[in-house]
Amino acid sequence: MSETAYSLKESIRHLPRNIKESIIRRGGGTAEQERAAAVFGNMFLHVHPVRVHLNSLRAGYTFGLGLISFYLFLILIASGLLLMFYYTPSTELAYRNMKDLEYVVSFGVVLRNVHRWSAHAMVAFAFLHMCRVFYTGSYKAPREFNWVIGVCLLLVTLFLSFTGYLLPWDQLAFWAITVGSNIAAYMPGIGEKVRFLLLGGNEVGQMALLRFYVLHVAVLPLVAVVLLGVHFWRIRKDGGLSRPLND
Ligand code: HEM
Repeated sequence: MSETAYSLKESIRHLPRNIKESIIRRGGGTAEQERAAAVFGNMFLHVHPVRVHLNSLRAGYTFGLGLISFYLFLILIASGLLLMFYYTPSTELAYRNMKDLEYVVSFGVVLRNVHRWSAHAMVAFAFLHMCRVFYTGSYKAPREFNWVIGVCLLLVTLFLSFTGYLLPWDQLAFWAITVGSNIAAYMPGIGEKVRFLLLGGNEVGQMALLRFYVLHVAVLPLVAVVLLGVHFWRIRKDGGLSRPLND
């Protein structure tokens, strides 16, 4: 009886430590192997490599351009989710929704502009990141596959930007997408079919708005998340960031 009471008391006393140890399996010791084990055993830390080459930490090597693109993507997801509460993909309501966001919703203008400017910035930073990768020769073996994934990421970023442009359903959006989809129709052979598939008809109307909306809020972000996962995983598998050969 007394033994049960004692162990119960003991387990309550050790509860905080037990909870902590069930989450963080291995503590950070001072020996190199213990520190490595602490990184491996933690869900959030294991994204990072246990060892990093000094060259990869030089701010002037990457200028953080890839990471900035990624953070902009996170801002776009968060602000886009909030925008979805106020937006209806209907030709009747879309423009009025945007005006309500501007004049009725608290901080609606800020929300819309955060999304808009982050989108412009992501296109610019993804492009600058590609230039950095090119100028440091990081597209060479064994990183060719990651370069290809990068090109797909840039295309998805541009397509996200293009599909988002129609959603406010103002004059600028309507005519930009009319011109854009007409350009697609010039593709030899399949042009007209691609245009029809994109617009869900022969002109920019309700079906086009719905298609662009679904592509913009579901399909393309999902594709981007999968590609980003592969992109980051490949950086690790290719031995971290590129560096001068005999460094
Ligand atoms: C959505 C856009 C993109 C994101 C969020 C992204 C993210 C990143 C991040 C965080 C890194 C680690 C180094 C750094 O910060 O520069 C990286 C490396 C890399 N990225 Fe991207 N990236 C994107 C687009 C691209 C594009 C367009 C290309 C090329 C066509 C590309 C090719 C590469 C390659 C080859 C590496 C390895 C570089 C090295 O080892 O030095 N990425 N990317």
